[in-house]
Amino acid sequence: MTAEPPHTGPKPGSPLGVAAIGYAFMGKAHSNAWRNVAAFFDVPAVEQKVLVGRHAQEVAEAATRYGWAESATDWREVIARDDIHIVDICAPGWLHAEIAIAALEAGKHVLVEKPLANTLAESEHMVEAARAARDRGIQSMVGFNYRRVPALAYARQLIADGRLGTVREIRASYLQDWLADDSAPMTWRLRKETAGSGALGDIASHAIDQVQYLTGTTVTEVSGRLHTFVGRRPGPDGLEDVTVDDAAWATLSLATGAVASIEVSRVATGRKNSLRIEVYGSAGALAFDLERLGELEFLDATAPAEEQGFRRIVVTEPGHPSMDAWWPQGHMIGWEHTFTHQVRDFLVGIRDGEQPAPSFEEGLQVQRVLAAIEESAAAKSTAIQL
Ligand SMILES: NC(=O)c1ccc[n+]([C@@H]2O[C@H](COP(=O)([O-])OP(=O)(O)OC[C@H]3O[C@@H](n4cnc5c(N)ncnc54)[C@H](O)[C@@H]3O)[C@@H](O)[C@H]2O)c1
Repeated sequence: MTAEPPHTGPKPGSPLGVAAIGYAFMGKAHSNAWRNVAAFFDVPAVEQKVLVGRHAQEVAEAATRYGWAESATDWREVIARDDIHIVDICAPGWLHAEIAIAALEAGKHVLVEKPLANTLAESEHMVEAARAARDRGIQSMVGFNYRRVPALAYARQLIADGRLGTVREIRASYLQDWLADDSAPMTWRLRKETAGSGALGDIASHAIDQVQYLTGTTVTEVSGRLHTFVGRRPGPDGLEDVTVDDAAWATLSLATGAVASIEVSRVATGRKNSLRIEVYGSAGALAFDLERLGELEFLDATAPAEEQGFRRIVVTEPGHPSMDAWWPQGHMIGWEHTFTHQVRDFLVGIRDGEQPAPSFEEGLQVQRVLAAIEESAAAKSTAIQL
């Protein structure tokens, strides 16, 4: 007797049931997206069924506030339910592989936060599970939400349309300062066994994804350096060793011959959430800063020299990516909207039976670059081929 295939879809005419796992930072941002996506975009109907966390009372309060019908404390029970069709993983990296693989095997579509996982081996297993699930019509996606900043999506279009000519150099820095204070406490983000790495996996993952996304190419060689400036921080039982990096640097060779530099830090005093990207090509250049995410600077080097200069494009025209669903031009959107766009693309992929981007394979490619930076850093910045 053959086993029943997993239940993969709602009854005709019924909404897709969603469960989110994790109700803190990303759980809150994703809940907001699930709540408002259908109000702005043409997507299949969804129902926010269950929010999952470890502490019953806190997760119940969060579920009420964020618009979930129920809360639960055991993700395994939740992914076994027939009325759950989508699992949205907003838990820390050490749980990504276990939950994502179990959910895919149970026939649920899976959206997982970045980075894909804490290790290359886990990421590879996730890709295998995603491929097997895709063959059964089950979709999966990794949450590199900055792909959904309209200014960055527009930057990608300009590059693809050849407006920069041949892209030669990319500078990507992602600087934060929430660990600049030596007395900032230990968290799961500062332990290798829970976070995998520090600023590297947390924010260089975004920068590397952007370099590959904007240019449509992949990294082929890496030279990296990692550094921990504050080696011990206060934990619940006294000072604890920090086992991840505070900051990371890398130079990346791209398949096209372009070269990118990456600089990320969580101790960059005064920088709150500064993802800056500059792209220099033979016919033009672009500059972006997440702290002004509605703007893109563009220089057209084919204009007469006397007229050249970076122009500031306010990315709110209906023709800009994702903007026609929001407000009249000039009315800005923010960081949280990127998660709504992410959920829209995920739902459209599910509806159309097409792999939404970024796939787990693309997430794995970023993990390979992260692993190569670590390997290079451990070998005094020796170049590592991918
Ligand atoms: N895309 C972005 O811009 C962005 C920003 C921040 C974090 N992230 C990513 O999101 C993920 C979560 O980070 P965060 O900042 O939300 O972390 P967080 O510490 O704020 O929240 C983690 C949540 O996971 C829950 N959790 C932990 N163990 C659990 C378990 N066994 N069962 C159920 N729930 C459990 C916790 O209760 C908590 O609600 C990480 O992968 C992180 O890298 C992405």
